[in-house]
Amino acid sequence: MTAAATALPAALAAALASDLASDSEDRIVFDLAGITARLDHLRDELPGVAVRYAIKACPLDEVIAALAARGAGVDAASPNEIAQALRSGVPAARIHYGNTVKSDRNIADAHRMGITTFATDSAEDVAAIAAHAPGARVFVRLATDGRGALWGLSNKFGCSPRDAVRVLVAARAAGLRPAGVSVHVGSQQMTTEAWQDAFATITAVIGAAAREGIALDHVNIGGGLPALGYLDRHGLPLDPPVDKIFAVVRDGMAHCRLAAGHDLDFVVEPGRYLVADNAAIRAHVSRLTVRRGPDGREQRWLYLSCGKFNGLYEMDQLQYPLVFPGHPDPAPRVPAVVAGPSCDSDDAFPYDQGLVQVPRDLASGDPVWVLSSGAYAISYMTRGFNGFDPLPYSFVGTEGAGSEGSGTAGSVTDGAVAGEAAR
Ligand SMILES: Cc1ncc(COP(=O)(O)O)c(C=O)c1O
Repeated sequence: MTAAATALPAALAAALASDLASDSEDRIVFDLAGITARLDHLRDELPGVAVRYAIKACPLDEVIAALAARGAGVDAASPNEIAQALRSGVPAARIHYGNTVKSDRNIADAHRMGITTFATDSAEDVAAIAAHAPGARVFVRLATDGRGALWGLSNKFGCSPRDAVRVLVAARAAGLRPAGVSVHVGSQQMTTEAWQDAFATITAVIGAAAREGIALDHVNIGGGLPALGYLDRHGLPLDPPVDKIFAVVRDGMAHCRLAAGHDLDFVVEPGRYLVADNAAIRAHVSRLTVRRGPDGREQRWLYLSCGKFNGLYEMDQLQYPLVFPGHPDPAPRVPAVVAGPSCDSDDAFPYDQGLVQVPRDLASGDPVWVLSSGAYAISYMTRGFNGFDPLPYSFVGTEGAGSEGSGTAGSVTDGAVAGEAAR
């Protein structure tokens, strides 16, 4: 495993590789030091911006606790996530309820747990917050179109700038504190333009709110910061312009402050940016087969022990880099469709655009490492779909829950990354 392949510093990549090499069973291994290093890097890039980790990206107590110990808070999407954050050491003041979708009961539960800040995007939700969390601070979520993101979070959330001002005015009338605006530019956002557009809308709403006598005091720029280690649907590195994105965000924040005419607090809600590259799955080969399809063409399929329903849910939009530790280069390679173990045809890497070069001599049981697989793996794992269990998880340096790892370090040059599409 190389640093470039994992988008991780070499020491962290080596630690992860060592743990994967010492495991003989399938599992997902997280590197907590890598996750907190990403947090530190984010803070260097966006000084003074409060970090509220989006729990949904990896809802493990250990991850939340490690981030909380460094002063981060969380973006919670339900009362259960709030309860988890509290028991993982996040103070209520650093938890906001970032889901615009919530029932009366959800709001009352959050209020009872001490949550005072809520996202909203409709008059109905504002009325419910006023009734069940009186006096709360609200931030209104602005709609984005999701362009440029692998997963656009449009339509279901957010309102137009005009409605946003109406919602803020309604919040004030209902006795709430209209405190801020928020956006989400779409998950794994690959462009700087999406951020520029979002900041243009935010500054317009800050100005329009001010004309209504509402002085907003914070801006939540949401998630969307990209992971660095994915491959695209063709099998080529995605290579997001992350440095440029940070520059655009810094610039956008300066414009917001100008529009407000006073200082503003900023909040960012990273999910995949923190966790995706800091975990890898130790899976194994189920079978490498050659079959002729209905069109008479021969195609190889590499079936792995994990797939869409037990760890690799996002395989519809991207390819995860694969390492085959028993087949170092220059082992002969063949193009194959990579797929998971279930009886479901969606359980496969995208193969309309490019196949994956895999070792020709793979045998059932051979280990496979799936890199950059830490985001939305735990949260999207099904319970026994087709009888495949959710993957157990551990952290670098441990084997199983809480016990010391005893495996020997594997050579990071043993494996070869299947990052190149067959052309
Ligand atoms: C409100 C909110 N904030 C943050 C995130 C995290 O997004 P990402 O993983 O793209 O950083 C999400 C993801 O769905 C979200 O809904």
